Amino acid sequence: MKTILVSGSSSGIGFAICEESKKQGHNVIGISRNINSRATELGIRSYSVDVTNQNQINELVNNLTSGNITIDILINNAGLLIKDKFRDTTDDTFKKVYDVNVFGLANLTRALLPIINTDGQVINISSIGGVNTSKKFPGLSAYASSKGALITLTEVLAEEYRSRPRFNCLALGSVKTKMLAEAFPGYEAKIMPDEMAKQILDFAFDQNNTRNGEIITLDKGNLE
Ligand SMILES: NC(=O)c1ccc[n+]([C@@H]2O[C@H](COP(=O)([O-])OP(=O)(O)OC[C@H]3O[C@@H](n4cnc5c(N)ncnc54)[C@H](OP(=O)(O)O)[C@@H]3O)[C@@H](O)[C@H]2O)c1
Repeated sequence: MKTILVSGSSSGIGFAICEESKKQGHNVIGISRNINSRATELGIRSYSVDVTNQNQINELVNNLTSGNITIDILINNAGLLIKDKFRDTTDDTFKKVYDVNVFGLANLTRALLPIINTDGQVINISSIGGVNTSKKFPGLSAYASSKGALITLTEVLAEEYRSRPRFNCLALGSVKTKMLAEAFPGYEAKIMPDEMAKQILDFAFDQNNTRNGEIITLDKGNLE
């Protein structure tokens, strides 16, 4: 049994990861601004944390530390997508998106590292849109570039921490969630959150997995 902490646990892929890892018998901690009541019913230890708020992050770490909790796997899944034409994309748009997808993720990771086991793993959830030379979609200048930054951040941390813990990045294709529906109304993703959650957990809990600093694409039919 492992202890897994998932950010962005209130909905979509993050909630599905929590639900599936709980089913598999792991200790599950979920954080997001909203607390999903179903998560609490399932026994997922849920904390209301805004990853852009350093005080809330510190309070979370204090809570975990005082309960002697250490983490085997951190899944940085919380994300924000704002879609807009580049000419209408302001500094404020870029800041909002980077605050969650890059700075929030970096600050949460830095604060949690002292309680992440050295044989553990940090998995960053990026997007196929952030991968070099992938097909890009108009309107995602802030979002896709933030996901590209996350890929590079993963590679740097993998070098810096030398596998103690390991850092990897999963670049996802489209999944049927609120985020996708709001950005691309009417588009039918070929994969549901629970299917994606299983793929993510197969990677996370693979005992033979010694990968570090890798960017792995999990894409079953991207937007065309
Ligand atoms: N769906 C796709 O097609 C797709 C494709 C590629 C990559 N991804 C990535 O997969 C991840 C999950 O996305 P999703 O599709 O499941 O979207 P979603 O249903 O909108 O879920 C996003 C999650 O992030 C949390 N979140 C947002 N801002 C936060 C903040 N400031 N602090 C803490 N939590 C925050 C939200 O919770 P609260 O609002 O309660 O805080 C929510 O639980 C994201 O990183 C996304 O970029 C998704």
